[in-house]
Amino acid sequence: MGIVAPMTVSLRTPIQIGTVRFDARIVLAPMDGYSDLPFRVLTRRLGSGASFTEFINTIEVMSKNTKYQDRCRFTDAEKPVAIQIFDDDVDRLIAGGIRIYERFRPDIVDVNMGCSVNHVSNRGAGAGLLRRPDKVERIIAGLVKALPCPITAKIRLGWDEASVNYLEIGKICADQGAALVTLHARTREQLFKGKVDWDAIAALKSSLPIPVFGNGDVRSFAEAERMVEETGCDGVMIGRAAIENPWIFAGYDPETVPFALFYATVMDHYALVKQRYAPERAFIVFRKFAKKYLTKLGTSKDEIRGILTMKNPDEFEAALSRLASDDRRGRAPSTGADEEGDG
Ligand SMILES: Cc1cc2nc3c(=O)[nH]c(=O)nc-3n(C[C@H](O)[C@H](O)[C@H](O)COP(=O)(O)O)c2cc1C
Repeated sequence: MGIVAPMTVSLRTPIQIGTVRFDARIVLAPMDGYSDLPFRVLTRRLGSGASFTEFINTIEVMSKNTKYQDRCRFTDAEKPVAIQIFDDDVDRLIAGGIRIYERFRPDIVDVNMGCSVNHVSNRGAGAGLLRRPDKVERIIAGLVKALPCPITAKIRLGWDEASVNYLEIGKICADQGAALVTLHARTREQLFKGKVDWDAIAALKSSLPIPVFGNGDVRSFAEAERMVEETGCDGVMIGRAAIENPWIFAGYDPETVPFALFYATVMDHYALVKQRYAPERAFIVFRKFAKKYLTKLGTSKDEIRGILTMKNPDEFEAALSRLASDDRRGRAPSTGADEEGDG
């Protein structure tokens, strides 16, 4: 009889979230203003295991306003897709979730219980829901009963240090049939400051019978692997680090990503943005990403300023292609003086 090696779970091992399979356990986090359709497709191609939309306000969903619909659209290339919703009103949140499911057929509906922004959490939505476990129970129970797809939740540790209740909230979610809980391991009061509590991720994982993803300040693929190893969590969500480094899902840092992949990513991303938005909007949407890409490539500040102030989309695209072709990583920044040839 041969020796059976212990099963090792890597970030690239698929995971079942209810009836839905994530291709990997490292996943782009929902981020308002960033995790739009083009960025989700891009990061899926680079190895993110699933896609979560920017949060959708169910007040808008239940109003005559149709603007929100744009943020719900997705393509097959980014599936599986979770559409994330938020609200403080239980019935409206459930009704909004149903309406979204019927219109867009996402693979998952995710409930935001972690947003710390004042105008969201102070009215009792996002992380504000953590102060109302009774509402959490009714929301998850209501959505699970109403929809055939998995329902998931993204939470924080609690409202503040004095009211840390993630174990209670996690248990309510699991008891009511949620298929995944993602924990941004900070309180609402901490916003984005202070240390992310890996012990809490471990405690939540060991207390729940459903998958738990950890989230907060993970800056590299290796660190995500370490979070899984040390906390036992089932996967990791990556937010801000992915904006700086979409190659995190492929296991690279901006300094080590092969240049061919770097260039292809920039141009691929811009092509996706152009497909998604009207030309005059596309390059405005892309500017914030262009700045990050070019800074990492070592493009000079003056050249970056130049491209970011361009008004003409064609001019912008030509400049982008030219600057992104010039890999200056690891080179000393240009002094602006005439450069000598290397002989
Ligand atoms: C610009 C921005 C927008 C965000 N929007 C959302 C959102 O729409 N829904 C959500 O659940 N979390 C949102 N978050 C929180 C992130 O998903 C994540 O939990 C948080 O940034 C911590 O992870 P990170 O350190 O990897 O960024 C947002 C964060 C940022 C920085």
